[in-house]
Amino acid sequence: MKKTLITGGLGFLGAALTRALVERGEDVRVLDNSSRGSEEKLGAHAKQVEIIAGDIRDPAVVRKAVKGTDRVLHLAFVNGTEYFYNYPAYVLDVGIKGMMNVIDSCIQEGVKDLVVASSSEAYQTPPIVPTPENVPLSIPDVQNPRYSYGGGKIMSELMALNYGRTYFERVTLFRPHNVYGPMMGWEHVIPQFIERIKTLSEASGVRPLAFPIQGDGSQTRSFIYIDDFTAGLLLTIDKGEHLGIYHIGTMDEVSIAEVARLTAKEMDIEINLVAGPEAPGGTLRRCPDIRKLRSLGFEPRCTLAQGLKPTVEWYRAHAAPAKRALTQPDLFFLA
Ligand SMILES: NC(=O)c1ccc[n+]([C@@H]2O[C@H](COP(=O)([O-])OP(=O)(O)OC[C@H]3O[C@@H](n4cnc5c(N)ncnc54)[C@H](O)[C@@H]3O)[C@@H](O)[C@H]2O)c1
Repeated sequence: MKKTLITGGLGFLGAALTRALVERGEDVRVLDNSSRGSEEKLGAHAKQVEIIAGDIRDPAVVRKAVKGTDRVLHLAFVNGTEYFYNYPAYVLDVGIKGMMNVIDSCIQEGVKDLVVASSSEAYQTPPIVPTPENVPLSIPDVQNPRYSYGGGKIMSELMALNYGRTYFERVTLFRPHNVYGPMMGWEHVIPQFIERIKTLSEASGVRPLAFPIQGDGSQTRSFIYIDDFTAGLLLTIDKGEHLGIYHIGTMDEVSIAEVARLTAKEMDIEINLVAGPEAPGGTLRRCPDIRKLRSLGFEPRCTLAQGLKPTVEWYRAHAAPAKRALTQPDLFFLA
């Protein structure tokens, strides 16, 4: 039986993928330093998974994790917009050293099959919406720390594809577009809306509740529920072609104002949106063209309103954990 290493396998997407592979009866090993992930996300499946605790920036740990596997699915990365703005060097430290260690270890250990997570942020402002996979990727301003993440993803893609040509039988990239669901962390738009609506509504009985948002809410995104995402990722892993790139998302473009209204509706609270300043470097529209993944048999099933139900329920039942301050060993790793 094939053995698979999932880096970042205790994170939001990685844990869902790990659970899905275990359910298919596959042999899975996870490498994760639990900086954002946790074993809890694997639930009862944790017992069936070999978990290596370690840093993706540590070449020795990565080599040990890759040894004896047939396939590596590389998802470990620093995700969450507030990290991009506040800790850009850390985002790149994990992104670039992690990608290099994964490639080196695969070559050293003879692993020929690699699947790598990129992101819709690699487009920043896509020239066409809905966006096909073959339009240019871009960094509009190298001085804006936000693009540490998008830039790290572009570098990861270049590294995976170009080493892939020579040293791998198959390298496939996927670009997720705004995945959401329970246990997605707290540094993203939907959990932050839920948290803020909860806090504001507890502080004030006035309805409709005044709800400040970034900009006027006309920016759009398309959101995909975690179960649909995982089905798309499994297809990419099973059928993705060598040097192929696949969007995983939906083509349901929705304004951020509408996301706020749907979230509040699910929480049974009437809100009035209050426009505020925009974060520097955000983009107006993003929606993937998913025809490539559809040609492999993909069809998302869950609407945003349906997916918000379990998401709101989970976030209502779970308080955000106290934030641990990042320290020097977190921020920069030297082997
Ligand atoms: N969630 C989304 O909507 C989305 C969108 C686009 C791209 N992505 C990409 O998909 C992948 C998974 O995203 P996610 O949402 O599950 O993020 P996540 O933060 O929940 O998971 C990332 C995992 O990587 C681990 N990790 C971070 N730094 C590490 C290090 N130095 N060493 C070892 N492990 C480390 C974390 O502990 C975490 O478990 C990432 O590459 C992310 O950039 C996600």
